This record gives sequence, structure tokens and C-alpha cells, in this order.
Amino acid sequence: MTPGGSSERSRNRRRMRGARIGTARSGSLPLCLVILLGSSCHMLHGQEVAPYLQGGERGQQVVLEGNRLVLTCPAGGSWPLQYRWTLNNTNVTDWTPQYRLSMPSLKRADAGSYQCMVRNRMGAVIHRRTEVHVAFMGNFSAGEQRKTATRGRAAIISPPPLASFPRPLVTWYKDGHKIIPNNRIAITLDNHLVVLATTAADAGRYHVEALNEMTGENVTSPAVYLSVSVCLQRRQRDVT
Ligand SMILES: *[C@@H]1O[C@H](CO)[C@@H](O)[C@H](O)[C@H]1NC(C)=O
Ligand SMILES: *[C@@H]1O[C@H](CO)[C@@H](O)[C@H](O)[C@H]1NC(C)=O
Ligand SMILES: *[C@@H]1O[C@H](CO)[C@@H](O)[C@H](O)[C@H]1NC(C)=O
Ligand SMILES: *[C@@H]1O[C@H](CO)[C@@H](O)[C@H](O)[C@H]1NC(C)=O
Repeated sequence: MTPGGSSERSRNRRRMRGARIGTARSGSLPLCLVILLGSSCHMLHGQEVAPYLQGGERGQQVVLEGNRLVLTCPAGGSWPLQYRWTLNNTNVTDWTPQYRLSMPSLKRADAGSYQCMVRNRMGAVIHRRTEVHVAFMGNFSAGEQRKTATRGRAAIISPPPLASFPRPLVTWYKDGHKIIPNNRIAITLDNHLVVLATTAADAGRYHVEALNEMTGENVTSPAVYLSVSVCLQRRQRDVT
């Protein structure tokens, strides 16, 4: 075989393939007609329409714990329509004719991403997600704490852990008096109290009050007792 001969054969093959594609293209026209005839047949037999979405929920909802949550799944399409709800992609209902999901008393554990699916004989559609947040105020989970700072050094006092949604507004108190931040005492964005250079006067009883703006509830934390020690190195020297 000469190289020329083989290239001629591949050219021929290419031509043949082109011809086959050509036939496929011309064959797609009658196929379209068949589809069109098919759908017009459906229309004649009762005008069945696949489900389609109408409007929708807000993308986000914040509901107070214990309140009622009602989500709707507005959709059109041929009767009968069936609905199914998922929470974080897990089924919460089976297929039902109810277009509403009603939860009489929402719990913290019910928060998550809700979505509905609608179906009828012609097909199914999925609605966009609704993020449901449950606003609640928990209790401080830790007990009283004791903390020692070294005089002259910085001290960081963390607020005791508190479960809350949304994040609470926190006010720090020392010996019952509200702490006003100044050039020595700061409150960080995540509510830690920072004392830059502690003095003996910083020793005392600290606590926070946390206010949940959504629920209107406020809770008082257990105390954090701060004591201020003299420099560790000197104490070590004293010991030895
Ligand atoms: C939800 O339930 C349907 C049947 O109703 C089932 O086909 C599907 O797999 C389920 N999906 C999940 C994520 O459990
Ligand atoms: C759903 O997912 C969110 C975000 O991952 C999570 O905070 C929530 O607890 C989940 N809800 C359930 C019921 O699993
Ligand atoms: C918080 O504690 C108080 C008193 O101990 C109790 O009445 C209340 O139910 C608690 N709240 C929660 C959300 O646990
Ligand atoms: C917190 O609640 C107490 C009563 O329980 C009230 O006296 C105080 O003013 C409240 N604080 C805030 C910041 O709402």
C-alpha cells in the first residue's frame, strides 16, 4: 500500500460519513412533525399541561421558635397536582395533594433549607429553596469561671458560651457596672473583653448580659472571677 492510497481511502470514508450525517439531518424533519402531531394529540385529548411554578416564597424566612410556619408551593398545571417537601434534601412529606406545608410550632431542629417538588402525569418541577431560620434564645451552658491575669499583661475574658439565633447583643459588666470601652479596655467584634495591661484594680466579678433582638429575650451569664497576679517569673524566683 502506498501512503497516497491510504489517504485516498480515508478521504472516501470521510465522504461516506458526511453522506450518512446528511441523511440523518434530512431525516430529523419528519421527526419534528411527529413530535408536533404528538403534542397536538395531547391537547385534543384534554389539554394536559406539565406543572409550572407560580411566584414563590421569599428566599429566606426567620421564624420565632414556637411560632407557626406555613410554606406554600404555588404552581399551575393539569390536575391532579401532587406536592412533596424536602428539608436539607431529605423528605419531610410523601407526595400529597396539599400545596401547603404547615408546622404549628417550629423547633430549632426544624431550621434548614426547604424545597418543594410538584408533579402531575406530564412531569415534575422543583421550586427554589427557602432558607428557614429559627430565632431562639438559649441559656448559658457553662458555670462560673475563675481566671488569673498577670499584672501588666493583656487579659482576654471570653463570654460564656450561649446558643442563640441571631447572635445576641452582648454587654459586659464588672462588679455590676456596665463596662465602657476605653483606650485600655476593648470589646472585640465577637464579644471578647480585652484588657490591654491589667492592674490590680481589674480584679473582680465580670459577667455579660445577652439580648436577642428577634425574640426580645435577655439572659445574664454566670460570673467570671478575674484575679490579677504579680509577674510569674518573680513568683518562680520566690519559690526557688
Ligand atoms: C423521597 O421519597 C420518595 C418517594 O416518595 C423517594 O423516591 C425518594 O428517593 C426519597 N428521597 C429521599 C432523599 O429520601
Ligand atoms: C440543615 O442544614 C443546615 C446548614 O447546614 C443546618 O444548620 C441545619 O441544622 C440542617 N437542618 C436539619 C434539620 O438537618
Ligand atoms: C433557661 O433557664 C431557665 C431557668 O433555669 C429556664 O426556665 C428556661 O426554660 C431555660 N431556657 C432554655 C431555652 O433552656
Ligand atoms: C433584661 O431583662 C431584665 C428583666 O429580666 C430587664 O430589667 C433589663 O432591662 C433587660 N435588659 C435589656 C437590655 O433588655
